[in-house]
Amino acid sequence: MATVTSTLTINAAFLQEIKEDNRQLQDLFQQTLMLLNRPRRKRVEPRRIVRYFSWLRDQLALHFALEDAYGYFEDAIAEAPRLSEAAAELHAQHDELFQEICELIEEAEQLMYHERPCGYRETTELAIRFYRFHAEFQKHETRENELVLDAFDQDIGVGD
Ligand SMILES: [Fe+2]
Repeated sequence: MATVTSTLTINAAFLQEIKEDNRQLQDLFQQTLMLLNRPRRKRVEPRRIVRYFSWLRDQLALHFALEDAYGYFEDAIAEAPRLSEAAAELHAQHDELFQEICELIEEAEQLMYHERPCGYRETTELAIRFYRFHAEFQKHETRENELVLDAFDQDIGVGD
């Protein structure tokens, strides 16, 4: 039973530690969405988009590092091996999501340095790509939360 106690402690510490990081990350996502949702989107300076995307990249780096530092629910999954495949898949998504925000920055920089025309259409395309990225990230977070709850339920013996 000592192992079960240890697992529950680690999960609680993990959830507490990333709480603040999550709040900052969600705030930053909301601010970036508001920036891109302006009715006169073509007036948004690419420099500002690059700045917000870069802040997001840095916050995401911290977010993923925190999750990885806690062994990515390793101990909880040790108690529920059937979850390990889903955990590995979610873990791999960290690299994919990080790659995507880096590509978004590159695109915004191309607009900023006038390597591509910077009209309403180009900014809208960039905004749409960002909306998709945000949706993918939210989906990833939801699946992670479900995984933790699933492992937790199994630890305390209420899972299937
Ligand atoms: Fe994650």
